[in-house]
Amino acid sequence: MLGIVVGCLVICICGLLYWRGRLMELKAHPLPPAYPRRLPIIGHTHILLSNKKNLWLIFKEICEQLLQQQNGLIYAKLGFDIYYFVSDPEDALVVANTCLEKHFLYRFAKYWMGDGLITGSGDHWHRHRQMLKQFFSLPVINSYIEVFNSQSRKLLSDFECSAEKGKFYPTKYTKYYSLGSSYATTFGKTANDKKSVLQYMEAVDEMLSLVMERFQTFWLQIDFIYSLLGYKKKESELEKFKAEISDEIIQTKKSFFNESKSTFSYIPFEPLSHLILEQHTKNAFTDQEIADELHTAMVAAYETTSKSLETILVMIGSFPKVQERMYEEIIEVLGPDRDVGKEDLRKLVYTEAVIKESLRVFPTVPSVVRYIDKDVKLKNYTLRAGSQCIIALHALHRHSSWGPDAGQFRPERWLDPATLPPYVATDAAFSFGKRSCIGKTYAMTSMKILIAHIVRKFVITADYTKVQHEVDITLTSLSGHDICLELRR
Ligand code: HEM
Repeated sequence: MLGIVVGCLVICICGLLYWRGRLMELKAHPLPPAYPRRLPIIGHTHILLSNKKNLWLIFKEICEQLLQQQNGLIYAKLGFDIYYFVSDPEDALVVANTCLEKHFLYRFAKYWMGDGLITGSGDHWHRHRQMLKQFFSLPVINSYIEVFNSQSRKLLSDFECSAEKGKFYPTKYTKYYSLGSSYATTFGKTANDKKSVLQYMEAVDEMLSLVMERFQTFWLQIDFIYSLLGYKKKESELEKFKAEISDEIIQTKKSFFNESKSTFSYIPFEPLSHLILEQHTKNAFTDQEIADELHTAMVAAYETTSKSLETILVMIGSFPKVQERMYEEIIEVLGPDRDVGKEDLRKLVYTEAVIKESLRVFPTVPSVVRYIDKDVKLKNYTLRAGSQCIIALHALHRHSSWGPDAGQFRPERWLDPATLPPYVATDAAFSFGKRSCIGKTYAMTSMKILIAHIVRKFVITADYTKVQHEVDITLTSLSGHDICLELRR
């Protein structure tokens, strides 16, 4: 009896202390305005559940709310969890540089990417980021220019088959371009082996859709139910498939080191796999770490670049005057049929502006989610430790600091850096701060080369106002982007 009374007393005291702590915390760190339609206890969970098939619509609405707030900060509650949304550029930069841990949902992709840069954390991530950044530098990326040109030529011949035939979806071609290029530059394997590239693509697509399904269906987040419904088995099959590929690459290169003879056919550049494996002799990476980084780079490059290319094509096709100005620049720099060279890249100034502006208006990664591991002081509020913060890149790209034409597609804004907003790296489509995209130079080089080839050969027609989006890991069109192509005569 005495035990029960003492037990009850302890529970009551703990409860009181908890609520006292919560109240003090509330006083110390007041919350910013809440997103509307908050219900007691469940918060905004009902909105998420009733719209889980179109997260993009909710997210766009949140961005609109954010843009109306002077402080560029609101919050939503999923159960007891606080999610801050930030669009103020200065505050976003503080979050990006202070909160380096990712949301717990990233762990669902770990069976494919392990502790690679995207899913890794803490000292492990920091050590890898320091070592890997040299492999994404300009001289390394310049050595891939030939790969990007040859992959572009392949895409041109595929596009030629669809030209003059009305609307078509470029998705499968941009996907093949992106994955084919990464297959060569990451694995060092020839992209001519179409079957292997397609098999890998299919596996990555399946992995990403499993991650998305788990993210959207909360009971699948419980490991036991996930296994019971057979998803874990599917994961294991995918895991085995990708491990076989990286094992083969790692073992072949190691035997090259050990036996001092090349088992590789000649490739005129150092793919990422070779560059990392060269560190093997210094014991910088374990085999598992190498595999994680290679599959991470493949996924990061494939999913984002292919979707970005679609967006860029649609924007070019929707603005004929922009397209003609690009065409003139491309002909002036490259002439009628030459491949893009290293020197040409920096001369394609307007082409680069169009790419950046397309990704400003429709960022392929519309938001970045960070876990707040300690209180973070912003201009007007302090974010509470234990919460999540969503840096809404989509809203940040429409922030008033871009000027009154923030909502318009105007590539010219990029031609005079003095008119661009301060605080954040303006091409925030690649995020900013310490965990910004390590593959930005790779992506910009690859996309510039492909877009230059396409615009030189075809006239594109599209209508971006008709595109309906959804968030499927990255920003995706609901039915595929319609574009029409005509051969330039
Ligand atoms: C247009 C194409 C691309 C876009 C829009 C893009 C965008 C982004 C964004 C927004 C992030 C930050 C994610 C976060 O903080 O959660 C990121 C991270 C990353 N990206 Fe990209 N990316 C692109 C292409 C690439 C390419 C081509 C590669 C590799 C070859 C790459 C590799 C990575 C990696 C490894 C990270 C994680 C960095 C870290 O946490 O240290 N990305 N990317």
